[in-house]
Amino acid sequence: MSGIDGIVTQGGRGGAAVGIGSRSRAVDAAQSNKDSVMATGLAASPSRRGFAVGAAQLVAVVALWRSAPAAEALPKMTVTRDPSCGCCGEWVEHVRAAGIPADVVEVENVVPLKTRLGVPEALMSCHTAEIGGYVVEGHVPAEAIKRLLAEKPKAIGLAVAGMPVGSPGMEVPGQPPQSYEIKIFSADRQHVFARYRGLQQI
Ligand code: CU
Ligand code: CU
Repeated sequence: MSGIDGIVTQGGRGGAAVGIGSRSRAVDAAQSNKDSVMATGLAASPSRRGFAVGAAQLVAVVALWRSAPAAEALPKMTVTRDPSCGCCGEWVEHVRAAGIPADVVEVENVVPLKTRLGVPEALMSCHTAEIGGYVVEGHVPAEAIKRLLAEKPKAIGLAVAGMPVGSPGMEVPGQPPQSYEIKIFSADRQHVFARYRGLQQI
């Protein structure tokens, strides 16, 4: 067992989850603190109340800082897409909004590129992106791409097979987001890298 097996279970996911969890707990704490002070009316002096809320906010800021991605420059992404596919354009906007610089190349048929880059047939989607020596196939959330770049596993890349409703670029008004898997793949194996519903990891 080598490469992918070890990487999939390790690292960033836990850290990010803890960060986000503690941020919301801190915000909850600030809110309930405020509520209880308001309910009892005269329980605490204004200055003490200010201190309590301020401390909770400080915790929230620290938690936010801890969960923020490293401020290193992200490599440029090249996205190859079929010009008639609208969801590809929406996905490009999603990754750009997340701070990933992206160039777009339009071709009539993306399949030969997918095949050349080693995307397994079962994982093929619409667009194919290349970034930092990895392949990103389909509607993969930017957050997962950043995790890939940070952890640098031995793999060809990530893929979201097909086009799940609610994945970034595939939002359909009035339709609830589906849950879907992000697979990490190499030439001879595939594993679940993360599970998402919409933009949320689950
Ligand atoms: Cu698509
Ligand atoms: Cu696409």
